[in-house]
Amino acid sequence: MIIAIDGPAGSGKSTVARMLANRLGFKYLDTGAMYRALTWKAMQRRVDLKDETALCQLTDQTTIEFRSKGKSLSIFVDGENVTEEIRLPSVTNNVHYISNTPGVRQRMVKLQRKLASEGNTIAEGRDMGTVVFPHAEKKFFLDAEIEERARRRYGEFRPSDKEISYADVIKDMEIRDKRDTTRNNSPLIKSGDAICINTTEMTIEEVINLIIKQIGYAGKNGSV
Ligand code: DC
Repeated sequence: MIIAIDGPAGSGKSTVARMLANRLGFKYLDTGAMYRALTWKAMQRRVDLKDETALCQLTDQTTIEFRSKGKSLSIFVDGENVTEEIRLPSVTNNVHYISNTPGVRQRMVKLQRKLASEGNTIAEGRDMGTVVFPHAEKKFFLDAEIEERARRRYGEFRPSDKEISYADVIKDMEIRDKRDTTRNNSPLIKSGDAICINTTEMTIEEVINLIIKQIGYAGKNGSV
């Protein structure tokens, strides 16, 4: 079974997808982490982020894996744990070059389908319901007001990051939203058959419970 969860940054989709996967005993496929991991490697190797041929070659020479330990999930690039590095602002600022390169996306989609074929999966990203898993059993599109999404993102910052203001976070989010929704390759759009959930005034727990109710399955040990 594949459950697709898409939505913009700060919509709550990553937290919801991770907790839902734990709750249901499904695999969690964090596709944003995959684009980030490749961005990290391209930056390490000083590959020109606008050179599609070089980026495709790099993708072919890269092994991206997820490994889970208890409830925590880590991502490895060629055997190196890069779970923390891929969240660095420098990676966040450059990932759009990688995620907007058609040849890279083709390769990533192939890998994402392979990973999901290994078992029940919660697949989270921007194009899960539209492109990667058009036949997913259930599709959800999470969204929230931009002010609330920025508030959530700002709340996640460590004290050392606090020189970035809330207004900067909103501005940054507007830029990312525009990039995600207007790019040529697999832009962020709601799949026609996805259930839209506006999480602005909802807790994570409420969103998870709503999704469980919609899919009619609460995991091996739970009831709906
Ligand atoms: O969800 P995130 O912030 O970790 O995603 C990182 C970047 O990757 C973001 O700019 C959007 C992009 N992305 C994508 O293009 N397609 C996906 N399926 C997932 C993420």
